[in-house]
Order: sequence, then C-alpha cells, then structure tokens
Amino acid sequence: MEVVILPGSKQIGSLAADAVEALLRRKPDAVLGLATGVSPLPVYDELARRHDDGGLDFSRARAFALDEYVGLEQGHPQSYREVIRREFTDRVNIAPENVHTPDGLAADIPAACQAYEDAIRAAGGVDLQLLGVGTDGHIGFNEPGSSLASRTRIKSLIEQTRRDNARFFTSIHDVPHHVITQGLGTIMEARHVILIATGAQKAQAVRDFVEGPVAAICAASVLQMHPHVTVLVDEAAASSLRLADYYRHTYDNKPAWQGL
Ligand code: F6R
Repeated sequence: MEVVILPGSKQIGSLAADAVEALLRRKPDAVLGLATGVSPLPVYDELARRHDDGGLDFSRARAFALDEYVGLEQGHPQSYREVIRREFTDRVNIAPENVHTPDGLAADIPAACQAYEDAIRAAGGVDLQLLGVGTDGHIGFNEPGSSLASRTRIKSLIEQTRRDNARFFTSIHDVPHHVITQGLGTIMEARHVILIATGAQKAQAVRDFVEGPVAAICAASVLQMHPHVTVLVDEAAASSLRLADYYRHTYDNKPAWQGL
C-alpha cells in the first residue's frame, strides 16, 4: 500500500487524473470503477478539464459505480446513477450505455446484484477503482462487520453514515436505510485501487485502515491485502498516521519510472 501525502485536493485530483489518463492512453477501453461522495470530485473536475482542453478520450471507456441507494425513484437527484452522471460522465465523452450502476429499484435485488457482478466480469474486471472512505472505515457501503470476502449485495447503513450523508438530502429522514454495494471481495479484484481521503474528520479512519489490523470492524483495512493500492491523503487526513514521515520520504525519493 502506497500512502501519498499531498498539500490539498487540487494536487490529489491531478495525481489521480494522471493515473486515469495513463491507463486510458495504454488501454482506451479501460474499465473505471467510480465512487460518489465528495472525495473523488477533484479527480472528476480534473478529468473533465483534460477532456475539454486536451482531448482526453473516454469514447471506448466503460465504468461501474460502487453502489446505489435502494428505493430512490428514477431520476432522484441523489441517486448515485444521477450523481455519477452529473459529477462526471456527462462531462466527458463516455457513452452513457457504458456507465453502469447497481439497480436500486430492482424487484429481485439478489438477482440484480448477481447481474452486476456478471456485468463487471463480462467487461473483464475493473482496471482502476476510485474509492473514498467513510468515517467508520467503510468503502463502497461495506459497513463495519462486512465480510472481507463479500460480493455485491444489499446492506443496511449505519446511523453514522446516514448522518454523514444527510448533507446531500433535505433531512436525515430522507436518507435511505438500504443500499446495494459492491462487496469487499468485488472491490479487491480491481487491478489498481486509488483511495482518496481529505479532511481531519477522516484522520482516524485513515489511521485505522492503513496502520491498524486487518479486521471487518474497519472494512477498508482489507486493502492491506491488495497488491496495488494508492492512498492519496491531504495533511489533515494524514494527521494521525504514525509513519507519516516515512511515507513522505518514500514518495519524495520514488524512482520516476515507477508511476502510481
Ligand atoms: C460512495 C461510497 C462511499 C464514500 C464514503 C466517503 O460511492 O461508496 O464509500 O466514498 O462514504 O464519502 P465522502 O467522499 O463524501 O466523504
């Protein structure tokens, strides 16, 4: 796991966008794993800018969102299908039919979850997965206690996550209790994972998943078992890391050929 501590969101967005750009140039039909929430927004802004200014081409790319609320009506502004469209995919030239989100309105949710797993596999798997992390250490919506081997399925949100996400709704009462999320086992199959965390409210979760034990109580800690994870954090999110100086030293002296 590589931890890169950067001054702020702009640098984080730029470095993550470098990785996406390098991937698309190497593999134009790459499969991107997309997160919603605030953390990946600087990456989406930078990718949209590179598309507009430099012609970065998404025409053959495919994308899978991590998760979706259960029960929000079609077109609801906070459904992750809409959020991903608004924040990212409508701003680049990715084909709308190549952008997938779990079906939070499916009559048969287990079948929809299996279909999502099948679609990811049929696309050849995720090449680059963008992640945020919840204050309780969740990735996707794999709340504490999630099986480290879990696949796409329905989950209940912890009250803290509903409180955290109430900022996107009129009131906490409007935040759904249920979501469909890729499982930890699903996320672990992505070839490269870039997790972004910013702000002091993420410091404890970052410390727990980077330097704590691998345990279901902190779902993101499973990433310690992944061979290619890049953690991009600002100073505030890095403030509780015990080995922060070592991570800084390592990144400052990294051979240029290594990339992310
Ligand atoms: C979003 C997702 C969540 C968020 C996490 C952090 O698709 O799966 O795990 O990444 O809740 O959210 P922000 O970035 O808003 O702090």
